[in-house]
Amino acid sequence: MKSAAPATRFGAPLRWLHWIMALAIFSALALVYSKGLFAKGSAGRDFLNHAHIFAGSTVLALLPLRVLARAGSPRPPIDPPPGSLGAQLAKWVHVLLYAGMLATPVLGILSVQAAGKEIVYLGYTIPTWVGTNKALSHDLKEVHETLGLAMLYLVAVHAGAAILHHTFRHDNTLRRML
Ligand code: HEM
Ligand code: HEM
Repeated sequence: MKSAAPATRFGAPLRWLHWIMALAIFSALALVYSKGLFAKGSAGRDFLNHAHIFAGSTVLALLPLRVLARAGSPRPPIDPPPGSLGAQLAKWVHVLLYAGMLATPVLGILSVQAAGKEIVYLGYTIPTWVGTNKALSHDLKEVHETLGLAMLYLVAVHAGAAILHHTFRHDNTLRRML
């Protein structure tokens, strides 16, 4: 009996989630880094903050679906196959991206809650995980900001590698995700 040919693309749910979550992360970053356009306490700055929190919470909300989609969608082979160093590097960058997609929004939520504010996402009030503690809120915010920036660098490496594969190695790395 002939065995089924290996898939040439990631499954549709994983592809959709990959690009929707990428958009949410880019939006979260663009929104928060635009806050300097508005004075502290202004309505514009308040809007950017809320929109940042909305985009970031969306990443966390979709993450369990992404993990399920990943488990249900085997990674299609890259043709021609990359060297083992490149494959190992890609694997570790993916692990770090997943860790960032979990830790960054969680710490963002904790820092806001420790500042004594509640977060409402699509009408749902996120349960409070920490009590009010200004010093803790400040520290969590610092770690959150550093993680957010680290994600920006990591995504640049990741997307850069995908584009290099496509343009110079002429393999199917990127097409598998489209
Ligand atoms: C993947 C999701 C997220 C990413 C990549 C991200 C990234 C960032 C970055 C890079 C900063 C620092 C901006 C700066 O240096 O000025 C920041 C600030 C902040 N983030 Fe996030 N964030 C995410 C999700 C969240 C979530 C879910 C919340 C809260 C529920 C949140 C709340 C905040 C707050 C309160 C600040 C400080 C804003 C200010 O200083 O005015 N973030 N975030
Ligand atoms: C915030 C942005 C992004 C994040 C967090 C992200 C995350 C990930 C993760 C975790 C994977 C592993 C497969 C999976 O579990 O879904 C992946 C695969 C992939 N991503 Fe991204 N990605 C982002 C943006 C981009 C961009 C902008 C591009 C292209 C320019 C891209 C191209 C790819 C490709 C080609 C793969 C398959 C790589 C392989 O199998 O080795 N990603 N991405």
